[in-house]
Amino acid sequence: MTAIRSNVADYREAARRFLPRFAFAYLEGGAENEITLRRNRAAFEALAFEPRVLRDVSTLDTRTTLAGQAAAWPAVVGPTGINGLFRRAAEEALARAAQKAGLPFALSTASTSLLEDVRNVTEGDLWLQLYVQQDRRIAENLMARARAAKFSTLMLTVDTPVLGQRDDYARTGFAMPVRWTPALLWDLATHPRWLAAVGIHGQPRLVNLSRSARLGAGIEDRTGTRTHRMDLTLNWRDVAWLRRHWQGRILLKGIQGASDARLAFAHDVDGVVLSNHGGRQLDGARSPLDLLGEVVADAPRGAEVFVDGGIRRGSDIAKAVALGARGVLLGRAPLYGLAAAGEAGVTDVLAMLHKELQTCMRLLGCPDLSALTFDLLTAHGAAAAREAAAA
Ligand code: FNR
Repeated sequence: MTAIRSNVADYREAARRFLPRFAFAYLEGGAENEITLRRNRAAFEALAFEPRVLRDVSTLDTRTTLAGQAAAWPAVVGPTGINGLFRRAAEEALARAAQKAGLPFALSTASTSLLEDVRNVTEGDLWLQLYVQQDRRIAENLMARARAAKFSTLMLTVDTPVLGQRDDYARTGFAMPVRWTPALLWDLATHPRWLAAVGIHGQPRLVNLSRSARLGAGIEDRTGTRTHRMDLTLNWRDVAWLRRHWQGRILLKGIQGASDARLAFAHDVDGVVLSNHGGRQLDGARSPLDLLGEVVADAPRGAEVFVDGGIRRGSDIAKAVALGARGVLLGRAPLYGLAAAGEAGVTDVLAMLHKELQTCMRLLGCPDLSALTFDLLTAHGAAAAREAAAA
């Protein structure tokens, strides 16, 4: 009997039960003490709505454009690596579900399906998320392939020169190459549904990266080769290098401060994604939501500011848009759907978030996205309590 799942949290729980511990730890975990991971959620929770009543909300329009392409609502299915750990043909499932929802899908450099295979299953808007390896020809080849496959937008992730420390990996035995310990074997044995649907087919491979490196290498090669080693020399001058290889829009993902956002716009990028990688990189970093107002106020006309980290409800999307975000990126939420129920799960998660956004907008008195403005929000909690105490 399938349980009724009525929100993202229900899908999270179903994903937790389906996945072995090591795979759920990979999906869910944050860096170090997970301060930033918690801060991402806390920032949403600290904002209170002040709705307007008696507005005509008989019609509702959530349509927008994201990086110049039409979208049904202001969200992107964000880039996540090694999705093949959750389901087979995972990126194809995410891309198809995104298209059905009228949203772009951003494919990670660390994808376990080829970008050409993803393009073959969808006519929807596709973005390429780029990590740059030491051998620049790999990134140049990835960009050329993505252009040929009609990906619209390039998103360079800038918060990952090295991987953040994730303590859970060691605890749960998430390692590349796989280390066969008794604990890992027990983990697999106690998750037979995952084993039959995913595990039995072998380790997912970073086929996209490997094709561009012409190495045919698997995830196990990450440690050794130049293929999988990040280029630590990457710097602001390289935006010009990207421009030479990518004629479409360029976004920088992982901007974590207002001064870096200004630098990004000074380097003529089309937009930024305020993000701390879902709390998986620098623990202690600010929440992107806290930064949003400041960055939007300073952004040049036409530049788009996206935000991600901790989006679990349609109302979170409404808050981000009210603070000036063009849209949000969804990280873990679609992955919960994917792990729990494959493509149908992603479709359901996206439908739930859209419906929640629509309900929230009606309750706020907003018939369209332009009505979602910052004066519908108030920071409650500490500041309000201080004021009340002083009065
Ligand atoms: C990520 N993220 C990510 N970002 C990126 O630019 N390239 C990548 O390959 C990955 N891989 C990845 C794997 C997994 C399992 C997760 C959960 C996240 C970060 C992602 O794009 C996004 O910034 C965050 O996930 C947003 O936070 P929430 O929505 O997960 O809270």
